[in-house]
Amino acid sequence: MDDNFYRIKRLPPYVFTAVNQMKAEARARGEDIIDFGMGNPDSATPQHIVDKLVESVQDPKTHRYSNSRGIPGLRKAMAAYYQRRFNVDLDPESEIIATLGSKEGLANLAQAITSPGDMILAPNPSYPIHAFGFIIAGGSVRHLPAYVSTPEARTEFMDALEKAVARSIPKPLAVVINFPSNPTAEVVSLDFFGEIVDFCKRHEIWILSDLAYSEVYFEHGPPPSILQIKGAREIAVEFSSLSKTYSMPGWRLGFAAGNKKLIAALARVKSYVDYGAFTPIQVAAAAALNGPQDCVESMRELYCKRRDVLIDGLANAGWTVPSPKATMFAWAPLPASFANLGSLEFSKLLLSEANVAVSPGVGFGEYGEGYCRLALVENTQRIRQAIRNIKVFLANSDKYLEAVQSKVVAE
Ligand SMILES: Cc1ncc(COP(=O)(O)O)c(C=O)c1O
Repeated sequence: MDDNFYRIKRLPPYVFTAVNQMKAEARARGEDIIDFGMGNPDSATPQHIVDKLVESVQDPKTHRYSNSRGIPGLRKAMAAYYQRRFNVDLDPESEIIATLGSKEGLANLAQAITSPGDMILAPNPSYPIHAFGFIIAGGSVRHLPAYVSTPEARTEFMDALEKAVARSIPKPLAVVINFPSNPTAEVVSLDFFGEIVDFCKRHEIWILSDLAYSEVYFEHGPPPSILQIKGAREIAVEFSSLSKTYSMPGWRLGFAAGNKKLIAALARVKSYVDYGAFTPIQVAAAAALNGPQDCVESMRELYCKRRDVLIDGLANAGWTVPSPKATMFAWAPLPASFANLGSLEFSKLLLSEANVAVSPGVGFGEYGEGYCRLALVENTQRIRQAIRNIKVFLANSDKYLEAVQSKVVAE
């Protein structure tokens, strides 16, 4: 029996599995692991959203199969959000589709538009589905730089786009962009989106923008939507998520907005694959978007406070990490003394010696090597505890590095 499945062969084992397994083993031994690994919001979903779900589920009509594209009231709430937040008018019928989280939407859009061998441009490092959604769909991925903070970096990004078009046969089908970025926390201005739209229009390349962190921003202000660029919807679709905005990661609700052809393609695939999210979840999601937004402000304050405690504390412990302008992640260059170890070995060592779990940068792509990602999903008290552990760990770096070295020699 051939079990060498074509798609599975192209999906390497998740790099995070090694750290996750160590984490589970340590917990089974009764150790208290402070977990900055997964970007899994720890706050409760706001009460009014939960109440709406409970109210809706009492109505047996909501127990039937739902609408794969999203119930009309939810799509209207999504359009109203774009109008309110970005001053962008969208037709809820043809320019918006609800998804089972933005991850599902990205994966199924990749299925919908990719022919075998199609070339897709995706950032590296990136959130894995940006590249692997297309690899699962049989496409090939060419990497784009993920850093765009300086004018030089932006020029490099645009040069990489130019080269990708000049040197790829077939010409790239689509480009995936994600600002504010997971894992790098990079943000961009509307002007930069304008440059990308202009380029992609000239070369007839679709744009898939992932705006999962649209509302997780700090003192630099709200991130833009690519759909704010005039004419962007001729070539672009943008994914939003309720997971972080309303602390609803387990509910699985997101949406795509923009180009009608891309939305229709996604709708077609989804009509075969799912019946939409459970109706009470959709009703509650509409209540989240239409209801009071002070919970969103509280979410930002919470992550901002945690960010400051983490970044200041790490600096005090001797580890300089840039303060993220947005997202719930710090993207940390490995401490200098551990730089040669690589991000996976460093993450394992930090877990076993300091009881602190982080995500190794290499798990987000080869250019994530040299970094690790810390998610702001522990409270400030536990962040302070983690910092105390890390401080002792860093002070003993020689001891740990020697131990690693002798293990390598012994092997
Ligand atoms: C950049 C990015 N896009 C999409 C997602 C998935 O979000 P959702 O829960 O809406 O599927 C995440 C989740 O961490 C993310 O970081």
